[in-house]
Amino acid sequence: MYADICGMLGIQYPIIQGAMAWISDASLVSAVSEAGGLGVLATGHLDAEGCVKAVKEIRERTDKPFAVNIMLLSQLADELVQAVCEEKVPVVTTGAGSPGKYMKSFKDANIKVLPVAPSVAIAKRMEKDGADAVIAEGCESGGHVGKITTMALVPQVVDALNIPVIAAGGIADGRGMAACRMLGASAFQVGTRFLVANECTVHPNYKARIIKAKDIDTTTTGASTGHPVRVIRNRLARKFEELEKNNADTSELDALGRGALRKAVVEGDIDNGSVMSGQIAGLVNREQSAGEIIKEMYSQYKAILQGMDF
Ligand SMILES: Cc1cc2nc3c(=O)[nH]c(=O)nc-3n(C[C@H](O)[C@H](O)[C@H](O)COP(=O)(O)O)c2cc1C
Repeated sequence: MYADICGMLGIQYPIIQGAMAWISDASLVSAVSEAGGLGVLATGHLDAEGCVKAVKEIRERTDKPFAVNIMLLSQLADELVQAVCEEKVPVVTTGAGSPGKYMKSFKDANIKVLPVAPSVAIAKRMEKDGADAVIAEGCESGGHVGKITTMALVPQVVDALNIPVIAAGGIADGRGMAACRMLGASAFQVGTRFLVANECTVHPNYKARIIKAKDIDTTTTGASTGHPVRVIRNRLARKFEELEKNNADTSELDALGRGALRKAVVEGDIDNGSVMSGQIAGLVNREQSAGEIIKEMYSQYKAILQGMDF
């Protein structure tokens, strides 16, 4: 079922900027929303107070719809949910679990809920729990990943659900959008390409590493902890690989990972920090404004669809 996600969310283009912990702050979120996409605030590193402050900052910069992402594994999930409900943000995306127990609070606050799902079974559960649409995220994506590729996951989720499906993972231009539209997706979530947006406040070293990346430069670490993460292969990733090969215990791996994303994002240490990135980084080769990225992706997508002989 192809659905009008733009109408549902009140946005102009079916492009959602995926939440990126430590990275997608008020600057990037408001730029994406102001340009007609849906900006998504990450809260992985925020408490409720920090979240409310960022929401207010976004509202000062744009009156367009935006979303807040809540990682459900976070110890602060309860207080973050309460904060977004009190603020009555228009949309919430969720990661790492099912938002089922919070659904009534979200609905009472008139919030649209878009959970991320890495498999058909989890997507079905989200639908049953009352999600408005599901983000089917393939393992090519940056950050925490599942096991199935976007190409294989999206059509299976589309067939299994009666609510709209948003594709994520490996989409960085109009071709990726058009391909996912053919698979049945109604909108597209993009992370890695927005890392190099002018308005993205990630450290310049991080941006430069994404622009330099080739197709085979990412790897996944942390599979042995049950939470694999896709990152650029660097000194830290090699240390992880070595420890995992030697069956290191989870506490040792957790200690190595602690603070690693901050180190890369804030300090610019791209050797010893966690440089989360999708496999599509090889296609991302220049900095542009969020508005240019959105317009370029959408016009290429439209041209492809119009040129097709249905
Ligand atoms: C640096 C980085 C951090 C991310 N952090 C989060 C997060 O905090 N919450 C979340 O739900 N997804 C997170 N993701 C996933 C993105 O929201 C998005 O779904 C993904 O990047 C899409 O795939 P792509 O990277 O191939 O564009 C992150 C991705 C990246 C690259």
